[in-house]
Amino acid sequence: MQKIVYDFDCASVLITGGASGLGLATAQRLLSSNANVVIADYSERGEQIAIDLNKQVNASNAKCAFIKTDVTKEEDIKRAVDYTTSSFGSIDGLVCSAGIGGANCAIADETLNNWNKVNAVDYTGVMLCDKYAIEQMLKQGKGGSIVNLASMFGLVAVPANVAYSGAKGGVVNMTRAAGTAYADKGIRVNCVCPGVIDTPLVPKEAKDFYAGLHPMKRIGKPEEVASLITFLLSDDAKFITGTSISIDGGYVAV
Ligand SMILES: NC(=O)c1ccc[n+]([C@@H]2O[C@H](COP(=O)([O-])OP(=O)(O)OC[C@H]3O[C@@H](n4cnc5c(N)ncnc54)[C@H](O)[C@@H]3O)[C@@H](O)[C@H]2O)c1
Repeated sequence: MQKIVYDFDCASVLITGGASGLGLATAQRLLSSNANVVIADYSERGEQIAIDLNKQVNASNAKCAFIKTDVTKEEDIKRAVDYTTSSFGSIDGLVCSAGIGGANCAIADETLNNWNKVNAVDYTGVMLCDKYAIEQMLKQGKGGSIVNLASMFGLVAVPANVAYSGAKGGVVNMTRAAGTAYADKGIRVNCVCPGVIDTPLVPKEAKDFYAGLHPMKRIGKPEEVASLITFLLSDDAKFITGTSISIDGGYVAV
């Protein structure tokens, strides 16, 4: 089957966590779909990644830029949104892919330190990125599209990691609130709920363990999630907002 080719007509998309995994795969797909991309990541690897991606872009005028950003810092997030706007004229899309797994703690073993650390990135960080992107989109007056990375563990729990389960469940419901508040202004917010995907976030033992638990008997590929995110950012998804879409080889369906 053919891969869909999008043309984002040089719209600009800010991607948190764009230096690795799902964020990086999305940056690649968007650049080849003629979207300008700003990678916002606390890893300085993002700088070189942006340079390399600019060399790879072909058949499009799109550009990739990097801004070092810690999504647990409100000032950094404001700066990343401003940088995207000043570099490319507007912010048209946002992908919240910065995330951490945290320590594996069932609730009786949870520490406030781990809980706060995970929630600062995976939950509050997403809320703040959505907030500042939407503020700017409202000023621009031409709508926009946001995709938050939740997880299948926002729809069903992983008992051994209460902080991650809580944060991802929060993202699913926060997406409903954010995605409906400005729906009449053309600002859409959705989230994706991936199963286990082959990225550096997931330890090898977990990849092996979970592969057999997905009805498709494999884990997912980053580019499969990037395809869904790209669709949700595009005008093909213009009547979709406030929802969560599973991409998990059938995991939560059984
Ligand atoms: N890989 C999976 O199996 C899977 C499944 C479901 C959901 N997710 C979610 O998808 C998102 C992306 O995961 P991934 O697998 O690509 O992980 P990854 O580790 O490959 O990439 C995450 C990126 O986020 C960055 N990051 C972490 N903390 C940050 C912070 N405070 N500020 C800025 N950047 C920060 C990291 O530097 C890294 O580049 C996460 O939210 C994750 O929870 C992943």
